[in-house]
Amino acid sequence: MQLNTVIIYIENYKDIFQKKGIDPEGLLIFEEATNYLNNMINRIQTYLKSPVLEKSTVNLLVILDSCLDFLDARFKRKNVKIYKEYPAEVFLSCDAVLIKEVFYNLILNSLESFNKEDNKLTIQVHKGLKNARINIIDNGCGIPREVLPRIIDPHFSTKDRNNNFGLGLTYCFRIIKEHDGFFDVVNTEVNKGTNIEVILPLS
Ligand SMILES: Nc1ncnc2c1ncn2[C@@H]1O[C@H](COP(=O)(O)OP(=O)(O)OP(=O)(O)O)[C@@H](O)[C@H]1O
Ligand SMILES: [Mg+2]
Repeated sequence: MQLNTVIIYIENYKDIFQKKGIDPEGLLIFEEATNYLNNMINRIQTYLKSPVLEKSTVNLLVILDSCLDFLDARFKRKNVKIYKEYPAEVFLSCDAVLIKEVFYNLILNSLESFNKEDNKLTIQVHKGLKNARINIIDNGCGIPREVLPRIIDPHFSTKDRNNNFGLGLTYCFRIIKEHDGFFDVVNTEVNKGTNIEVILPLS
């Protein structure tokens, strides 16, 4: 969000500069904005390379519900029906903040994939002996076969580059791996939807 604000600043000043020419004060703001952007990108990249986990025992279902609650208004606006298939309880030993960010990113991708009237999101949680398996299933736009090998690459995005930096899945993959988990696109079909699977060790 902060990155977006800076980019809007830069875009606005670019227009003013083109119309009125560059003034010293404007130049300073422009420079501050670009420095900020550089620092932010460096921080993201460093963070992706070496995240420091702060683990505790957390209820996965609470994390998933809080992601859904956070996006509730946007689900309503897109007329999305949500189906939850949860067991009674699932406890993980994980960094709650980072894992919440992972599921937020995955659910947001589903939300952004919806392109019809009849939008459906299913969150399935299975509790095994050692692991929890989470499937995020949407009936959105799907991922074309030629795009699939690139979706985890940093800065790869098929969306509007002003709002999406193509870092969501890079982040998810990294954080899941740090937790000794697995990430997989188990199924995707253009205009039919996508099923993303995450496996994380139980506490
Ligand atoms: N559920 C999904 N349905 C359809 N396409 C998807 C889905 N999840 C990911 N993708 C594809 O994978 C690409 C990369 O996803 P990723 O989350 O890394 O980036 P983004 O969503 O484009 O940008 P950001 O997450 O930084 O806002 C997306 O641009 C999109 O093409
Ligand atoms: Mg994303």
